[in-house]
Amino acid sequence: MPLDFDAPVRRNVDLGHGNFLIEFDAPEEIRTGMRPGQFFMIGIPGTEVLLRRPFSVCGLPGTFVGAGGDAVQVLYRVYGRATGLMAQLKPGAHLQVLGPLGNGFEPPADAGATPVFVAGGIGSAAFPCFATRLAAAGRRPVLLYGARSKGDLPLLDWFEGHCARTVVATDDGSLGRKGLVTAALEELLAEEGPRPHLYACGPTPMLKAVAKIAIAANVPCDLALEAPMACGFGVCLGCVVPCHDGGGGVRYDRCCVEGPVMPASRLAW
Ligand SMILES: Cc1cc2nc3c(=O)[nH]c(=O)nc-3n(C[C@H](O)[C@H](O)[C@H](O)COP(=O)(O)OP(=O)(O)OC[C@H]3O[C@@H](n4cnc5c(N)ncnc54)[C@H](O)[C@@H]3O)c2cc1C
Ligand code: FES
Repeated sequence: MPLDFDAPVRRNVDLGHGNFLIEFDAPEEIRTGMRPGQFFMIGIPGTEVLLRRPFSVCGLPGTFVGAGGDAVQVLYRVYGRATGLMAQLKPGAHLQVLGPLGNGFEPPADAGATPVFVAGGIGSAAFPCFATRLAAAGRRPVLLYGARSKGDLPLLDWFEGHCARTVVATDDGSLGRKGLVTAALEELLAEEGPRPHLYACGPTPMLKAVAKIAIAANVPCDLALEAPMACGFGVCLGCVVPCHDGGGGVRYDRCCVEGPVMPASRLAW
């Protein structure tokens, strides 16, 4: 059951290149019960932005050592009005937060599978708390991290310290290999080794490409989708995505309730 709570901001850290990590207080049920991949609808103080905006949970207690041990973190990129205002918030400001929402990530069903994250830019936001949960269960993920340029890879240092392996790909070649992260994925799938379970989050064109590769290689793949959202809890139908109905037709599932995490094979793209 989601809670609607007042969340005092503790810190709002500028990570550079328009990326921020905001840390706020949350009730016990959120700190202990929220699952990686789930998201919040966050209301910005004041009257300038009417609708709340969706953001994945990035850090739960235990994710970021040294950060407020009992706080919750959201990693965000400044795009428009709401995120622009969010970037100006100082400690002591109050967010209005609804969560947990959506379904979240499940660890690989195959106990021997390697979790492989495929992240595009700020799409990495949902992975830190998932990496921490997997590590607590003795499974260190591999991260394939793609972005336009080296400034668009927030928390890269953190990931390098918490993943078994990190492969970076930038469009302009300013860090890591030059080109799309999907090329790195195809190479990884061609390697001999433990069977991977893919988890992808990033721009929709990247997710479509990852889904195609995963389906062709017959590799399990869960996508964390981003759709425009007005309510976040299943009422407005603004966030629907086309899905196979199992009988050869297409139905529309709500990204906010049936997702945001969906198996690649379910999407009728
Ligand atoms: C389930 C879910 C989880 C999300 N998690 C995160 C997260 O953890 N961190 C994060 O930074 N964002 C996340 N997003 C995206 C985030 O909700 C948007 O960036 C935010 O709503 C933008 O609000 P705004 O008012 O600043 O921009 P708006 O005024 O709404 O948009 C400004 C401009 O940017 C474009 N735009 C908005 N969002 C995006 C986007 N995501 N990608 C490309 N262009 C965009 C719009 O089309 C518009 O042209 C998530 C979205 C969903 C659905
Ligand atoms: S955002 Fe309203 S139904 Fe999903």
